[in-house]
Amino acid sequence: MSTMSLRDYWVKTVREKIMEKKSRIVLALDKIPFVEGFDEEKLYSKCVDLLKAVEPFIVGVKVGLPLVVNYGFSLIEKIVQKYRKRLIFIYDGKVADVAHVNEVVAKRVYEVGFDLIIVHGMVGYEGGVEGVVNVARSIGKGILVLAAMSHRGAIRLNSLTMDILTEFCDVEGVVGYVLPATYPSLIKIAREFLGEDYLILSPGVGAQGAFFGTAVMFGADLEIIGRSIYESSVPREEVIKLSKIYSRLC
Ligand code: XMP
Repeated sequence: MSTMSLRDYWVKTVREKIMEKKSRIVLALDKIPFVEGFDEEKLYSKCVDLLKAVEPFIVGVKVGLPLVVNYGFSLIEKIVQKYRKRLIFIYDGKVADVAHVNEVVAKRVYEVGFDLIIVHGMVGYEGGVEGVVNVARSIGKGILVLAAMSHRGAIRLNSLTMDILTEFCDVEGVVGYVLPATYPSLIKIAREFLGEDYLILSPGVGAQGAFFGTAVMFGADLEIIGRSIYESSVPREEVIKLSKIYSRLC
């Protein structure tokens, strides 16, 4: 990985993928749709079908607790291993515990093949997020810090956004932030504060109400999209339709 900082490395890697795919989409894979029961083989093949269909048009995949608690980590590991060369894999555990516990989680998540982990910035660095940071630094992986959320009840958290941006921006291993498309002014403020050297990923478009492309127009690198893609009976057509919006913004 040369002498580049982790931030430079991951920002470059992700932005090269954006250019290569001409896409701004991270698929939030919260559910493997249209499968009954818990037959791992069936779930795996349905998941592969979905990813095969959309992979050329997306930059990465975000997987979080919904898949972990419903299907287990072994299925997730198989999927990550199959697609890790073509997609950026993000683990959205919104990690928010004390450092030694965060460290246990981070070790396993990175070992499975995930590139980036989303942590909750509000728990603070010292004795909290530092557990993930230490693991990320030791193996060359990255961290995205959640600095605001998309839902209405997030007002209290979102009043801390500037504090969170400031606390983490010089932490080696932190490569970007997660900020919501439903509060696009926060994305704009963050981009002005951070400059271009950090990634900004943004949920909230589509099913949560913000228009596709909003976050990118306000300064985000990527939009995180779940239900609008995986609940579609024609997910490939759906991402191709979305890609047209994003290709105009790339
Ligand atoms: P949908 O189906 O609404 O999925 O397109 C959105 C995805 O984004 C996640 N989500 C968030 N993650 N901060 C986050 O870090 C947020 O404010 C936020 N809002 C939604 C959600 O877990 C789902 O995977």
